[in-house]
Amino acid sequence: MSPFVLAVALLLCFLYVVKNRRSRSKLPPSPAWCLPLLGHLHLIGRLPHRSLHELHLRYGGGGGLLLLQLGRRRTLVVSTAAAAADLFKNHDLAFSSRPHNAAAHKQTYGSRNVSFAPYGDHWRQAKRIVVVHLLSARRVEAFAPVRAAEAAALVSRARRAAEAREAVELKELVYGYTNAVVTRAAAGAAGATAGRLRQLLAHSTTLVDDLLPDAAARVLRRVTGLEKKIDDMNADWDRFLSEIVAENKHKASKPGQGGDIVDVLLQLREKEGAKGFELTDDGIKAITKDMIAAATETTAVTLEWAMVELARNPRVTAKLQDEIARVAGGSEQVAVMEAELNGMPYLRAVIKEVLRLHPPLPLLLPRESMAAAAVQGGRYEIPAQTALLVNAWAIGRDPAAWDAPEEFGPERFLGSDGPAAVDFWGTDYQLLPFGTGRCPIDFHLALTQWADPSTTRRSTAQKQPSP
Ligand code: HEM
Repeated sequence: MSPFVLAVALLLCFLYVVKNRRSRSKLPPSPAWCLPLLGHLHLIGRLPHRSLHELHLRYGGGGGLLLLQLGRRRTLVVSTAAAAADLFKNHDLAFSSRPHNAAAHKQTYGSRNVSFAPYGDHWRQAKRIVVVHLLSARRVEAFAPVRAAEAAALVSRARRAAEAREAVELKELVYGYTNAVVTRAAAGAAGATAGRLRQLLAHSTTLVDDLLPDAAARVLRRVTGLEKKIDDMNADWDRFLSEIVAENKHKASKPGQGGDIVDVLLQLREKEGAKGFELTDDGIKAITKDMIAAATETTAVTLEWAMVELARNPRVTAKLQDEIARVAGGSEQVAVMEAELNGMPYLRAVIKEVLRLHPPLPLLLPRESMAAAAVQGGRYEIPAQTALLVNAWAIGRDPAAWDAPEEFGPERFLGSDGPAAVDFWGTDYQLLPFGTGRCPIDFHLALTQWADPSTTRRSTAQKQPSP
């Protein structure tokens, strides 16, 4: 090799190493031990939000960002309010898509739903349908009697158990409540339908995110039998949803009936077709399934944590009971009406505090960057197609954002300015249980779904779980 060629080769090698080191130096910090294929997956335990929080404390280096290799996915983890504020104020659009997940794609009729749809026209149109037609104030209001009836059923189940001196399984009670409300809102029926839905949802939780390269993931799913499990589960869901669609098609022919989610979607089909958005049967099933899945577990978990915190904090319970007595007139038999919920600041503060410490989706839903982004004023460069996990659980405990972050103190939200004014709709980055405004529910729906105060009053008087 001539000396000239050798010199050019050495120069190119040198430039490559310098460039690589420079671009690496612009990446957020990472833990050192990155294994082949697994990356940093071996560092993640059974409760990923806690593992990620520990990794942030150990390796994060103060900027609130950590870059991990989770199997095949390069993943940015956000763990502080300041880092979340920078990212969402300045780069929200860049991080607006969802990472592709083969199992989720299959489960959602080819990403025809809202939650897993990649950013783009389909997502915008489907989201509009959800916000404007399925969760409008009028529609939420229309289901008030359903919520009232199911809340009354919950209270009487708890009361019967207390009278018989039996322990109350809160998880069962609240899950039964949300399951029944959601089934009636989605399918117009409860009873056996709610039971079937409950089974379907229970099996859905066994699915894992596919973090291996596509081909390896496919082989692994086949070898472990997961592929068949996913296919069987999808077939069960499809049977369930197809039956509901068929029943509603029949109902829709009789004016004055219906009004549940499937019914509304069927009625929209023709109109939406004219606007260039085709609501096929699969599209209707995908959106309905999305609403069911998004509403059931989140609501039940929030209610359950609320009950746990009230049982652990008798002082808070007593204050809340006072507020309920003031609004309901103090009688044991009088229930608080939904219209009165807005006049209950302490209840609202309790719910915010529950969601600060126990966001039901502690890592929100994963997002993905659609373009490279220079974040924190250019300190870090995040390549395109990096998955994003926002650790809302860690952010709710960020000592730079909260006084006494581990304490359950709803009073921090009483008042109208300073920390008291912090709300959870996505523009106060220290409190992100719903992400940054992508979850389509509004406060009234949230309150009415979770907080039937008559439930709070009576159930907290029952046997308390051990701390
Ligand atoms: C305690 C209750 C709830 C919590 C904490 C919650 C939280 C969330 C979060 C964190 C996201 C992801 C946001 C993001 O990617 O930035 C989300 C998305 C979503 N939620 Fe909720 N949610 C709740 C209740 C509900 C209910 C009752 C419904 C429907 C009736 C619903 C429907 C949806 C839908 C359709 C999406 C997908 C939005 C999109 O990707 O554009 N959620 N929710």
